[in-house]
Amino acid sequence: MKALVLAGGTGSRLRPFSHSTPKQLVPVANKPVLFHGLEAIRAAGITDVGIIVNSASAAIRTAVGDGSALGVDVTYLPQDEPRGLAHCVMIARDYLGDDDFLMYLGDNVFADGITEPVAQFQAERPAAQLAVVKVADPSEYGVAELDPSGRVVALEEKPARPRSNYAVTGAYFFSPQIHEAVQGIRPSWRNELEITDALQWLVDQEQEVRAYVCTGYWKDTGNVTDLLDCNRALLEKTTSGVRGSVDPLSQIGASVVVEAGATVTASRIDGPAVIGSGTSIKNSYIGPYTAIGSGCRVENSAVEDSILLDRASIQGVRSINGSLIGRECDVSQARQELRVHRLIMGDDSHVEVPA
Ligand code: G1P
Repeated sequence: MKALVLAGGTGSRLRPFSHSTPKQLVPVANKPVLFHGLEAIRAAGITDVGIIVNSASAAIRTAVGDGSALGVDVTYLPQDEPRGLAHCVMIARDYLGDDDFLMYLGDNVFADGITEPVAQFQAERPAAQLAVVKVADPSEYGVAELDPSGRVVALEEKPARPRSNYAVTGAYFFSPQIHEAVQGIRPSWRNELEITDALQWLVDQEQEVRAYVCTGYWKDTGNVTDLLDCNRALLEKTTSGVRGSVDPLSQIGASVVVEAGATVTASRIDGPAVIGSGTSIKNSYIGPYTAIGSGCRVENSAVEDSILLDRASIQGVRSINGSLIGRECDVSQARQELRVHRLIMGDDSHVEVPA
């Protein structure tokens, strides 16, 4: 079985981050979203991975390389412009050959991995299998209608009135029959070849399309709110490990990772939280659900429920919460008094805020 990972896309809902970083490389719990996916793929026993990339793919190629550091063997498959998920299957036709494959959207995170749905697909081997999640309002996703046995009887892309609560996630399991299906469909109203339509084509041909219902945490990290939510879920799974240096004046709570080369001075860290290598935390409070990248500097500040990318600096700001702060951003104290700051800043930004 191979994997086809989709990492093209423009990431428009993650601007300004996606101006400088493909959305799949934004870190959650100090690791790029895409790496969480590749690790889950590897853990499910799949090592041949084709990655669909667009023209701005240099950063992904640099970060992932040949995949060997993640235990996978990566082949890059360029896509000229986003033309839909089913179009990606067409591009990958030669790479995939007649193998079964997992199609995985590179901005999706499954906190419990995908080993179980892969095993179910391999055991049952239907024409296709979807991983679905029960959500209150699935109208922004593909929606699957299931019969009591778990067979998919109908699918709809982003319906105004969903006919079930099962959202289609970004993990699809295909036998080679999907290649015929993607040839049988036409572009949708948004001018994309939708994988949902290809799956409906299989259903219409009375091919077996089954669902695996995920009960663990799943997120499509398309926007900042979802990234922060995902960061919280993954930090929950953190096991403590203090490898950096912590002075006697500091207090480190449970579920805190301090990477080697990080220094914590006269500060308190309440987990779950992770502090990256080479980062310095001084006279500060780091609250739960905070992931601080490498080479950052936090002084006389309080930060919680936030993500700081590498080399960000925060000085004299005691109320940072729910924020995503880009690489080399610099946040420092200003003179006026305000009480709350919520910052969503692009890479290389500079902002001065009240203390
Ligand atoms: C795509 C699929 C949709 C699925 C979603 C999951 O949507 O078309 O069916 O529910 O991924 O992440 P898109 O992100 O292209 O809007």
